[in-house]
Order: sequence, then C-alpha cells, then structure tokens
Amino acid sequence: MKGKVDIIIGAQWGDEGKGKVVDMMGSDIDVFVRYQGGANAGHTVIVEGKKIVFHLLPSGMLYPGKLCVLGNGVVLDPEQFLKELEDLHERGQDRARLVVSPSAHVVMPYHKILDRAQEAFRGKGHMIGTTGRGIGPCYVDKYARSGLRVEDLLDGDRLRESLSTILEEKNRLFTKLYGETPLPLDEVYLPALEWGKAIAPYVGDPVQILQEALDEGKRVLLEGAQATLLDIDHGTYPYVTSSSTSAAGGFTGTGLPVSSVDRVIAVVKAYTTRVGEGPMPTEDKGETGEALRVRGGEFGATTGRPRRCGWLDMVGLRYAMRLNGVNAIALTKLDVLTGMKEIQVCTAYDLNGTNTDRFNGAAHILEQCRPVYETLPGWNEDISNCTTFESLPRAARDYVEYIEKNAGVPIKLIGVGADRVQTINRGL
Ligand code: GDP
Ligand code: IMO
Ligand code: MG
Repeated sequence: MKGKVDIIIGAQWGDEGKGKVVDMMGSDIDVFVRYQGGANAGHTVIVEGKKIVFHLLPSGMLYPGKLCVLGNGVVLDPEQFLKELEDLHERGQDRARLVVSPSAHVVMPYHKILDRAQEAFRGKGHMIGTTGRGIGPCYVDKYARSGLRVEDLLDGDRLRESLSTILEEKNRLFTKLYGETPLPLDEVYLPALEWGKAIAPYVGDPVQILQEALDEGKRVLLEGAQATLLDIDHGTYPYVTSSSTSAAGGFTGTGLPVSSVDRVIAVVKAYTTRVGEGPMPTEDKGETGEALRVRGGEFGATTGRPRRCGWLDMVGLRYAMRLNGVNAIALTKLDVLTGMKEIQVCTAYDLNGTNTDRFNGAAHILEQCRPVYETLPGWNEDISNCTTFESLPRAARDYVEYIEKNAGVPIKLIGVGADRVQTINRGL
C-alpha cells in the first residue's frame, strides 16, 4: 500500500467546521469519502465569498477531476442526493467524479415519517431533537436486516416485492401505533424506481476503488459527519445520532483496512456548540452564550435551529482525543472569540461535590456535571486576516497553546474566518 488515508472527525457535538477543513485540505487530496451518517449533516464551504452547504455529498465535490465516494456506511436519501447534484450542476460546480456504494442503505419516505412520529411519541423532555431526516429509523432497518440498499433500487421487480413486505409492517405501525395514514405501495415504489434509474450511473465498487487508489499511491480523505460526542456507542447516549461517528467508523463504513490510516485529524471549535437535546455542561443560557451564537452565526446548516453555545469543554475534548487517537487538531472559529474580555475553559466537572476530569457520556451522569472553569485573558485585535501564528495577538496564541497542552495534541490548523483562505496552516 503506497497511498495514505487521513480521517477528519468532529471532536465535539458537530458543526465544528469539518466542511471547511476538508475543502481547505482538498488540493492535496485525490479521493474524498463520506463513511457514515446521511443528510443530517450540513458541511459549509465558502470559496471566494460563495457559500455551499453539503449534506450528503463529500465536501470535495468542488475540485475538478477528483474522486468523491459515498461508502457503504452512509445512509443515502435519494431525493436529497439528486437535489444536491442538480444544484451543483446548475452552478457549474459538479466538478468531481462521484461513486456510490451499492451497499449503502437508502433513507425511504417512511423513515422520515417514522423519525417525526417517534419524536412526537417520545414527547417533551424525552425527545432527542433529531434533524427529522429519517436517519435513526433507516439505521434501525439496516441492523434489523430489513433495509433497502442502493443496489435494491436498481431491480424493479425485486424492489416492488421487498417494498410490499416492508410497507405491510410499516403501515401497521403507522395506523395502529402512530396515528399516521398508511402509504400506498405505488406511492413509494414508483418514485423509488425513478431514483434507482437516476442513481444507477453513479453506482460502483468503493471497496475495490479505494484499495486500488491506495495501491497507486493516492491520498484518501475520510470525511466524518456529526461528531464524537454524538457517536452511537461513545457519545452522550441516548442523545446521539445513529452511526459510528468516531474515527473507527471510517473502516466499517468504507471497507478500507484499519491498518491503512495515516493521520486522524480532529476538528475542534474554539468554544462549544450543540444542536438538539441532551446534556451540555458548558451551555451558557445568558449573555455569553448569546454573544457566541451571534458572533459565530451559530444556526444549524441543516435545520436552521439556533445552536446552544458555551465555553470550550476540555473534559469532553480530552476524551475525544483519546477515543479517536487524534494526531492533529484543526482549531476553528478562533476569530469568533475576538472582543471577549475574558475566555473561560472548562477544565474539570464538579460531580456531586467532587472534581473529576473523567468524561462519562451517559446522559443521566453528564446531566449532573457542573463545569469548573479556568479564566484566560481575551484579545481585541481583528485576527481575520492573520496568515501566520506569530501574527496573532499574544492572548490568542496563549489560548491556542493552552488547548494544545491540555489536549496533548498539536494544533496544526487555525481557522480565523469562514473562507477557505482564512486559515493559518502550521504544517498539516
Ligand atoms: P461542519 O458541520 O463541521 O462542517 O460545520 P458547519 O458547516 O455546520 O458549521 C460551521 C460554520 O462555521 C459554517 O458556517 C462555516 O462557514 C463556519 N466556519 C468554519 N470555520 C470557521 C472559522 O474559522 N471562522 C469563522 N468565523 N467561521 C468558520
Ligand atoms: P454535522 O455533520 C450537529 C444531532 C441532532 C440531534 C442528534 C440526532 O453538520 O456536524 P439525527 O437526525 O442524526 O438522528 O439527530 O444529532 N445532529 C447534529 N448536530 N451537527 C450535525 O452534523 C448533526 N447531525 C445530527 O441535532 O441532536
Ligand atoms: Mg454542520
């Protein structure tokens, strides 16, 4: 194997700026791969003032001649997939070649209905606050072995037969449990058949393609969606998403061998945000949280929901570093902290009167954790045009070095603005 595989993951609760980092690294990459999640993601890329939000397609789609792959671990929403492709085409930006795994599961209309019905069923105080994109129900069907995969959309007769069995069960759930109207077979089958025809030209064999790419010495970048603290196994369960968002998911979700990994790069926002329900020890419901939300434009790229905001949580961050075996950090949105008189960092949790630096993801435990803060000085200078670490104000450099030291991982990239070029590269 002569090639190299890097994995980009989010280290917090998502929206760290993974899209920007993938796009920024893009010129050195040959193959971009999404390996888990689906259209619940919203990855923003801004080039020359123009904004593009990728939900399902890899953030490398803007690079002419490169290869983009949707791996088997992704759940593919055909409507969203085709819409994103069409939007790119209309803007003249569908520049990369795209290959979709035949084994990727398909998010069907009944998954989206179920997602919303189950949230309503959980009710206030219990709902997860999902994106409503059908992600959970689709992964449930995958593991229950009753899902439809991309390859199943390509054979009309088989598709009709499978759907008729599936709908029999779903419609019983809809009518008997959730008070929804049943879905007629043809209302699902006929569009699904059309989706299959439209997706067919993109279906290939990512396992073989990726292995050949490595043999040819190519550079592969796996683009994680969501983030470590939303991981189905290691996140703040049950307030998580339904896939393996940590670096380990990059292998089951692509078929690449575990030994092929070169670097794990964690994207870390200079403060914390979370969207949806679930514990967040550093959430600030007062002025600081509001200031971060306004300055940072913290509104969801997929659902438009305001993100919950607060100071950086080093307890969660150190957990994410160890869990993913992170080699390098890309620190984003440092510019958002400009003008803050003081910056606070959560260094430990107070759990029932005892300080702990152990992150326990179980929601009922994390809910009881109160942040213990250290205070660092802020800065006022505009840093959005800084191109070197040395040109940052002293307090900003100190903050970066503080995080580096406490996380035990070098910060190799610093974001000082949303545009591709507003990045300080320290040797990534
Ligand atoms: P992702 O889901 O991890 O790709 O992140 P999102 O795209 O959902 O959210 C990140 C937001 O921050 C987007 O609006 C980006 O354009 C923006 N962004 C990324 N990096 C920076 C940065 O360094 N500074 C500023 N001000 N904005 C950034
Ligand atoms: P990116 O890739 C932030 C959250 C939802 C909800 C929980 C479960 O842009 O960082 P789901 O629809 O996945 O079943 O919702 O996960 N969530 C995200 N939060 N960024 C994301 O993606 C997210 N994708 C899902 O808000 O709390
Ligand atoms: Mg996002």
